[in-house]
Amino acid sequence: MWEQSARYVRRKPNESIMENTEVVAPVVHTVAVMNKLEQQVAQDVNVAFSLRNVAVAFNGRTAVRDVTFDVVRNKVTSLIGPSGSGKTTLLRALNRMHDLTPGAVVSGDVLLDGVDIFSGAISPTELRSRVGMVFQRANPFPTMSIYDNVVSGRRLNGERNKALLDELTEESLRGAALWDEVKDRLKAPATSLSGGQQQRLCIARALAMKPEVLLMDEPTSALDPVATLKIEELMDSLREHYTIVIVTHNMQQAARISDNCAFLLMGDDRAGELIEFATTEKIFNNPADARTLEYTLGRFG
Ligand SMILES: Nc1ncnc2c1ncn2[C@@H]1O[C@H](COP(=O)(O)OP(=O)(O)O)[C@@H](O)[C@H]1O
Ligand SMILES: [Mg+2]
Repeated sequence: MWEQSARYVRRKPNESIMENTEVVAPVVHTVAVMNKLEQQVAQDVNVAFSLRNVAVAFNGRTAVRDVTFDVVRNKVTSLIGPSGSGKTTLLRALNRMHDLTPGAVVSGDVLLDGVDIFSGAISPTELRSRVGMVFQRANPFPTMSIYDNVVSGRRLNGERNKALLDELTEESLRGAALWDEVKDRLKAPATSLSGGQQQRLCIARALAMKPEVLLMDEPTSALDPVATLKIEELMDSLREHYTIVIVTHNMQQAARISDNCAFLLMGDDRAGELIEFATTEKIFNNPADARTLEYTLGRFG
């Protein structure tokens, strides 16, 4: 992993301009050329995560491979595919959550804002404060109050200023569309909340770290339809400030909430691989691969 990282040469912000300048030289830059260059730079800025040939293996057995796509900033990207196709495994790689799994090896490049997350330029702690995670089952700290759950990460990082923590609690709970329901009982145990509220509390807890990206692994799979709808509406508003990557096995949900979709499928050797990455519109209406169509039509998986 380290060797691989060492091979990766970070691109300087204006390097692509320089390369392209050489290509168009010696012609004097026309307005059209300049616009094109600006667009290319703008595109890079719009990418939160860049995945290049990412693969994850456990004890020598490949769980997912051949994953190359960009996660666009302030958009919702869905990872879809049948059970076992490597969606969770891929999502967890973006946060270096496999670091602690013996026998797990992540290969390929995962760049966050153009920086290799395995290069040592970002510590795992910094990475996880910039990239929050919400799990399949709501997992509030059961012995803590609603308030203490929200600020737990900040306190762990040494924040003791009560006014600031109060402010952060309100802001995060509002961001997670939970404030109005809990503002009068912030000291009540987190476990006194319903399942859907607990999941929104976990989202608030992630938001309190002020992340750039939120990773969500089937965040509504344990919730009833009303609570699911609340979370879907919430995601729509979160997109304004955050970049979201969500795993879902619910095709309607992917179609409703996401801008882009990555479709994974198990190969003959049962390793998951990326079949297609495209806009949600294209994945559902005009996919390039016949297997994508079969899957979104519900013919398998
Ligand atoms: N910690 C682990 N150790 C060994 N194998 C794992 C581990 N986590 C996931 N896998 C394997 O990776 C493959 C993909 O699993 P997963 O990412 O959970 O799929 P999905 O989320 O698409 O259902 C499965 O074959 C699973 O058994
Ligand atoms: Mg999964």
